[in-house]
Amino acid sequence: MTEMIKGRFSKKVLIPVLILSLLVSMSSVLAIMVRAEEAPVLPTFDIPALTQEQVASPKPNVIVVATGGTLAGQATNGDKASFQSYRAGTYTMADLVSQLPIHKNADVSTYQFGNKGSGGYTMKELYDLSLAVDAALEIYDGAVVTTGTDTMEEIAYFLDLTVRSEKPVVVTGAMRPWDVVGTDGPANLYQAIKVAGSGKTTWFGTVVMLNDVIFAAREVTKTNSHRMDTFDAPMFGALGYVDDPAVRIYRAPARAFKAGTPEWATPFDLKTISKDNLPLVGIVYNYQEASGGAIRGLVEDGVKGIVTAGTGAGGISSGLSAARTSAMTNNNVIFVSTTRTGSGSVYGGSGNTVAGDNLNAAHARIMLLLSLAFSGDVNVIRGWFQSFGTADVDISVDADTVLRTSVEEEPALPEVEAPVVTAPIPGTEEPATTDPAGEESPAATEETEVEQETVATP
Ligand code: SIN
Repeated sequence: MTEMIKGRFSKKVLIPVLILSLLVSMSSVLAIMVRAEEAPVLPTFDIPALTQEQVASPKPNVIVVATGGTLAGQATNGDKASFQSYRAGTYTMADLVSQLPIHKNADVSTYQFGNKGSGGYTMKELYDLSLAVDAALEIYDGAVVTTGTDTMEEIAYFLDLTVRSEKPVVVTGAMRPWDVVGTDGPANLYQAIKVAGSGKTTWFGTVVMLNDVIFAAREVTKTNSHRMDTFDAPMFGALGYVDDPAVRIYRAPARAFKAGTPEWATPFDLKTISKDNLPLVGIVYNYQEASGGAIRGLVEDGVKGIVTAGTGAGGISSGLSAARTSAMTNNNVIFVSTTRTGSGSVYGGSGNTVAGDNLNAAHARIMLLLSLAFSGDVNVIRGWFQSFGTADVDISVDADTVLRTSVEEEPALPEVEAPVVTAPIPGTEEPATTDPAGEESPAATEETEVEQETVATP
């Protein structure tokens, strides 16, 4: 009897328990399936492994991730005297690196991401480029990214805001194609590798280096359509310079002060979103009596955000203002105000309008596009513009904080041949000397001699 009751009881309890656990395991399988569906499919990259020689070598390993541009440009019909008639993105990076002298400061590998003009890259391709750079930095000590110069500031800032690695990322290019007279391509490539190999821009985010000058990606802009010193950072200036033999850094971007902390990384981790999440974002330029047509057209195209390049401190015409109000109210478009002056800050902003600080319109568009890919909340986006978009330095230290400055020893300069004594200077008893270039220089006289202080060694 007791056995029967026990059997019935256990059946009564066991069956619902079994059904319940079956349902629980089915729902967890479903949840995993849903999550697997949500997880973005990430691209993979054929980044070259380090060779045994590279592993054994004391030099840092630098990879050049190539996208094309004028640096990889070939003169049309062999006309090496024309800076305008060429095909951008023609030579492969492996070919270009093989034409450089063996690098003194780094072992160099290459990865050909693409080969075209900078303006031809879509935002989805930049998503891939950023992930390729991070994949390369899992293996290499630093990366050089070569791009065309036309939209270099946008590509560089996209990398700056998205690459997760703290290792150096140095963007470079050229204003003259590789094979014309006076090309800046080989020198820029060589020097960019030197900066990446030096490790001196670790934690800086992405920097841009052309013409021996290093700039922060957030601050740099192309200022001239032809000159080789076209890149500049209005309001800010250079971070540093590359001279033979030194890489000198004279100031650090605001971001570098967060080195080693969780706040250093931006919220824009591309591995967590699909490239389809990148929204359309446009730029509208203000001018005398500008109509609202540009805004209405972009809204019709389906933009989620618009950057206005306003006059002065961000002003826009009444036509643009009315179109902006309508786009914010009826289409929930988020606006960022910047200035068309080429320099200076825009403050304020309320509702669906966010101030762009001193980001130029092209930079602000990248920042807004990434913000909208990760949030639809204007207050979150405003917060990101005020923190990651604004380069405001505010330093505080605690007892455990140690700030270090460079302790790099100056590399020895190449030895210069000793002057050769040739003949006495007429009218004096002193011999003249000839320097290796063959120019005469007077021998030291009493006035020019410097007294040597003798320092006793302990
Ligand atoms: C480009 O941006 O791809 C062409 C112009 C250049 O690289 O200087």
